[in-house]
Amino acid sequence: MVITVPATRPGEGLRPVDMGRDVPQIVELLRMVFGDALDIDDQQLLGGPSPVTEVIYRLSPATTRLTNGFVWQADGRIVGNVTLLTSKIWDRYLVANVAVHPTYRRRGIARAMMGAAASAVRTRGGRVILLQVVKDNTSAIDLYQSLGYVSLGHMTSWSAPVSRLRHVAPAAGDERVPPILALPGHRWREAYDLDVAALPPDLNWPEPLRPDAYRRTLWQRFGDFMSGRQAESWITADERGRLSGLASIASQWGHSHHVALRVRPDWAGRLERPLLAKVVRRLHYLPRGNVRIDHPDDDETMNQLLKEANFNVQRTLTHMRLDLSR
Ligand SMILES: CC(C)(COP(=O)(O)OP(=O)(O)OC[C@H]1O[C@@H](n2cnc3c(N)ncnc32)[C@H](O)[C@@H]1OP(=O)(O)O)[C@@H](O)C(=O)NCCC(=O)NCCS
Repeated sequence: MVITVPATRPGEGLRPVDMGRDVPQIVELLRMVFGDALDIDDQQLLGGPSPVTEVIYRLSPATTRLTNGFVWQADGRIVGNVTLLTSKIWDRYLVANVAVHPTYRRRGIARAMMGAAASAVRTRGGRVILLQVVKDNTSAIDLYQSLGYVSLGHMTSWSAPVSRLRHVAPAAGDERVPPILALPGHRWREAYDLDVAALPPDLNWPEPLRPDAYRRTLWQRFGDFMSGRQAESWITADERGRLSGLASIASQWGHSHHVALRVRPDWAGRLERPLLAKVVRRLHYLPRGNVRIDHPDDDETMNQLLKEANFNVQRTLTHMRLDLSR
């Protein structure tokens, strides 16, 4: 490990985050380093009242378990940060907000902070660390690869204002349009199975899909109603009645609509068009706002269809994973 930044004052160099006093400086550093890279939802979070929220702004609002992290202090100020978060799975941790002030780069600071984060996870018995990095951020990817992280795949975030979405024809040419039905409540488990078959769990950020993600009990529906949330899903089925495709829209007041579209691998390329056509038609009846979809970037069928519907690419993130048990 090469660390060439001299510790000029006591307390300088690498140390754990002190939430009591470091947050304003960390926020300032992250704003400087990532300011332009924030998307619409992120910016809403940044405008929030809590400075802790700002530190985790690059994660879903669902992930509020900021536990620890490391900073690098030099010349009396914080010039580097790595945020470490727990996840709902006890041995799985997340790293975010890896940032070093431009003046202090290429001196081994990020490598030292990442090493400290991995040691902290090991000490707690953690076995996996996951992170996301912009796909063309080669310097950060080089850093992570040199530390043993491997790429799991890439997810592209697409978004569009609902008012600017273009309708998609449900079939190309004279293809038959399969029946698309609302997901019957009792088939929630099949919907989950299809979802995880179509998208590896670690590509869901920040948590893998919950097994009950498609289950809406009466109690959950009541909770959704009270908090202005709404979720709708549709399915297609094969000749034996098994689910072959799945599309959903999750909405919440004040947030973008979130769309997910999954096709069983043996049906790939055949159901994306009718399912997206259905979603776009439905979105035109929902409250105006933005719509967002995170989808694997190597799905060329979807990439073409999303462009056809007038979605724009926000960013493509590479998901990386470090296995500490190896
Ligand atoms: C990525 C970043 C955190 C690296 O910080 P750093 O302190 O300069 O990194 P280090 O000095 O510890 O470099 C460690 C390794 O990363 C790679 N690396 C870092 N910067 C690099 C660059 N500009 N070009 C190529 N490789 C680079 C190298 O492999 C380097 O090892 P080496 O110096 O032995 O060749 C820093 O450039 C940064 O803050 N960038 C903007 C924010 C960002 O992209 N964060 C990542 C978000 S996921």
